[in-house]
Amino acid sequence: MGWTRRLLVCLASAWLAACGTGPLMTPGDDCLSCHRAGGSARAFTIAGTAYSRGDAIATEGTPDLVVVITDARDQRIELQTNAAGNFYTDQAVAFPVAAELHRGDSVRHMEPRVSTGACSSCHAEPPRGGAAGRVFIAPESAAPPSPPPIAP
Ligand code: HEC
Ligand code: HEC
Repeated sequence: MGWTRRLLVCLASAWLAACGTGPLMTPGDDCLSCHRAGGSARAFTIAGTAYSRGDAIATEGTPDLVVVITDARDQRIELQTNAAGNFYTDQAVAFPVAAELHRGDSVRHMEPRVSTGACSSCHAEPPRGGAAGRVFIAPESAAPPSPPPIAP
């Protein structure tokens, strides 16, 4: 490869490393502002970040939650949050969609159906579109304290 091309490839990979694009990138941001048809990155249909508190700061995303999307044709899609709390898919969906967030046996439902998969376009800090804050589900209430040991 010629030196100009090598330089360009090198600059591009340095930029990618510096900007940290990939599954853990920019939690809390509106992913679809770039990840959409005609956007600057691979198109997703649904993407966002899930948290344990509605007013969490962006980098406090919660791993291992499950976002359940039910689309207008009753197709069910389950997305597990990664280490940054991010979730995303490029699977085709029919809007409007309903959303639930699961943590073990606890579930939070979204009341309205929404016509975009840009979850963080409403669920942001400060929130928009009537959302109360981030997509979130609080940790299950702490297990009750174990009973005191029985005296011998
Ligand atoms: C400012 C624009 C921008 C935003 C916002 C953005 N990304 Fe990205 N993302 C990129 C670019 C550019 C790439 C690298 C090119 C590509 O993969 O299309 C990328 C790559 C990715 C990849 C790797 C894709 C692949 O095919 O390997 C994933 C996964 C990803 N981003 C997830 C997300 C998530 C989740 C969010 C939101 C929390 C998000 N991105 C927000 C620009 C963005
Ligand atoms: C058009 C704005 C809008 C969009 C886009 C949106 N939501 Fe919501 N969401 C709301 C509103 C309004 C509520 C009800 C008020 C509340 O509890 O925040 C809500 C509530 C929720 C709740 C229950 C409470 C909470 O904050 O966690 C979950 C879970 C949820 N949404 C998930 C999602 C997911 C996943 C997406 C992306 C598919 C999404 N939402 C996209 C507006 C939106």
